[in-house]
Amino acid sequence: MRLIFLGPPGVGKGTQAQRLSETYKVPKISTGDILREAVHKNTSLGVKAKSFIDAGMLVPDDVVIEIVRERLKEPDCPKGYIMDGFPRTIEQAEALGKMLRETGSVIQQVLNFQLSDEELVRRLSGRRSCPHCQTVYNLAFNPPKQEGVCDQCKSPLVQRSDDEPRTILKRLEVYQRQTRPLISYYEGQKLLTNINAAGSVEDVFKRVISAVQKGKIG
Ligand code: AP5
Repeated sequence: MRLIFLGPPGVGKGTQAQRLSETYKVPKISTGDILREAVHKNTSLGVKAKSFIDAGMLVPDDVVIEIVRERLKEPDCPKGYIMDGFPRTIEQAEALGKMLRETGSVIQQVLNFQLSDEELVRRLSGRRSCPHCQTVYNLAFNPPKQEGVCDQCKSPLVQRSDDEPRTILKRLEVYQRQTRPLISYYEGQKLLTNINAAGSVEDVFKRVISAVQKGKIG
């Protein structure tokens, strides 16, 4: 299984990628998670990425392409993976295509998650996450059992620095300008399947499973 999850911020890519990764036992490769961990650990990558993330802008292509190149060399990748949040520009997509051709591999399917802007803003504004085990919650749709505390590891939950209202709007604008063109790009390669991301996590997951099975890669 070699999949790409495409879609605007807050559409639920990370939530669905996590579930699919657990179901099919393949890694979820999230460039957002890798960058946030680097920021948290204050590495040189984190220092470079922080100002872009906090401003709702994309981290430069060469930086994220290198992250993915290194990640794909890890031993859990040959059996497959779900790319969550990469590629996000045509340049990243071209670089990924080249990397895979070099190893005789291809992307099998691109799932494009769709949701209204109004609902995206609602989901992002209510998101809280655990900085320790990365479990994601939503105050409105999927709250933790105890307010402000992770159900899994009991760490205090945090709001992502880029989930502040002005940054959310910036991220949506950046998505329209830089990432949306990937829809036609992958449509042209006959890899795209649209997924209606409205409804509960469970409803959306059923659509994801159905798409993967129809694509005959599950
Ligand atoms: P990244 O972490 O990739 O963020 P994103 O794409 O903006 O996506 P999000 O994580 O915000 O949303 P999601 O679709 O995963 O939704 P989630 O499942 O969490 O990137 C962050 C930043 O890093 C970028 O802005 C950029 O600076 C940098 N970056 C990352 N990758 C890069 C790249 N390739 N190139 C350059 N820069 C890069 O769900 C959202 C909320 O909704 C949660 O609270 C969840 O619980 C809830 N929810 C999920 N599904 C449902 C549902 N069905 N019903 C109700 N609530 C739901």
